[in-house]
Amino acid sequence: MNESILKGRPELTAVIEQVAEVAGYLWQKGWAERNGGNITVNVTELMDEACRSLTAIAPAKQIGKVLPNLKGQFFYAKGTGRRMRDLARKPMENGAIIRICDDCQSYEIVADLPVMPTSELPSHLALQDYLIASGSNYKATLHTHPIELVAMSHIPRFLQPGEMTHVLWSMIPETLAFAPLGIGIVPYTLPGSVRLADATLKLIKDYDVVLWEKHGTVSVGPDIMEAFDQTDVLCKAANIYMCAKSMGSEPEGMTDTAMKEVQEVFKLPKKREGGK
Ligand code: 13P
Ligand code: ZN
Repeated sequence: MNESILKGRPELTAVIEQVAEVAGYLWQKGWAERNGGNITVNVTELMDEACRSLTAIAPAKQIGKVLPNLKGQFFYAKGTGRRMRDLARKPMENGAIIRICDDCQSYEIVADLPVMPTSELPSHLALQDYLIASGSNYKATLHTHPIELVAMSHIPRFLQPGEMTHVLWSMIPETLAFAPLGIGIVPYTLPGSVRLADATLKLIKDYDVVLWEKHGTVSVGPDIMEAFDQTDVLCKAANIYMCAKSMGSEPEGMTDTAMKEVQEVFKLPKKREGGK
């Protein structure tokens, strides 16, 4: 077997080790049954000349979308069908580095092994394309299956515009502080589809986290740890809601006045800002 691309590249190694660390958290939280969830991280800036001249180790494959800003970009992507709990121990055996071809609609795997990328690649790469187009410093995209948030998406009341966000914000002030744009919901759509990617792309512009009804969440961040935090903050609020509810009554929630105070004191943005 050829040497790992990580050898002699401490910065790239640190990024992949962080992916592995987060994969472990996803499993521990119960958000990653079997192969559930997926991760991509843009590693283009960490690719030296030798990386850039690597040849494909598997035939090029179509993404399903044309993504004009991704020409020549490199990503680490979880392998399809691979377990997060395995990735946590062996990230380069359960994921691979891919390069987007010059046609902007196909990719090839360049290292370490021909591990086929996640079936949700259209969603991940559509978001990555948007992040580059908007001048963002965000590099990581995460899809996972957080129990409480998925459970809430089975309850029609929470699918009403703004309802889930309002309830989650009202559970604990930190939710509003760290997820000031709230959660946007994509009505149930086939996993892995370009339709799902397009719907996700529309909502990530306006929300911190996108919830795929009856399936899971998508979040973005400067690195994978922060993308994880974004989902974790909202899932914690959902967990508090469910704990209180299971004590026998509808939780009271913070008052609108208390929430407004948090918004004003912390000067929270109402729209995604530059850099995001
Ligand atoms: P992959 O194993 O293809 O990454 O799919 C997992 C998943 O969660 C699909 O939505
Ligand atoms: Zn999924």
